[in-house]
Amino acid sequence: MLVLELASPTSKDWIDQAIRHIDLVLLDHANCEKKAAGNALSLLFRYPANGRLVETLSPLAREELQHFERVHRHLQRLGIPIKPLSAAPYAGRLNQHLRRSEPEHLLDTLLVAAIIEARSHERLGLLGIHAPDLELRQFYLWLAAAEERHWQLYLDLALDQFPADQVQERLDTLLQVEAEILSTLHPDPRVHS
Ligand SMILES: [Fe+2]
Ligand SMILES: [Fe+2]
Repeated sequence: MLVLELASPTSKDWIDQAIRHIDLVLLDHANCEKKAAGNALSLLFRYPANGRLVETLSPLAREELQHFERVHRHLQRLGIPIKPLSAAPYAGRLNQHLRRSEPEHLLDTLLVAAIIEARSHERLGLLGIHAPDLELRQFYLWLAAAEERHWQLYLDLALDQFPADQVQERLDTLLQVEAEILSTLHPDPRVHS
């Protein structure tokens, strides 16, 4: 069975940055959940005839919006003012590695989505241990389990439609790219800084 293992674990520097600026990380996290829903939706638009993809990603988009609603409630509970926040360069830099032609574009899109979900799973799990507020820790531990399911789901979609050796090879390449992107801590505290 093919497993997704991140090429580098999250540094203690990120944990320290995130805990010091938990308000900004929560605000960014709300945006991440909206983007996760939006990405699933844009795949539905791009591949409307791909039944397996549609059956998987329509419920996923709904689930990500439910995550957004729960993050939003925590923002309100903690009295964190809602304001626009710039995104970390992370997803944009990963997307630069998507090949343009099909079917390679679909494979890369599914694998990049799987990697982002896997990093979210790792980091939300860390917030589940280190967040300063008990309710937040419980929320993040619950959420981390959902994000683990999501990377598996994107990886399964890739394996359903592409040969396993091709998936493995491309996954290894993109995992190295992802680790390189995160090798320097971005100065703005974000889920993927
Ligand atoms: Fe989510
Ligand atoms: Fe997710």
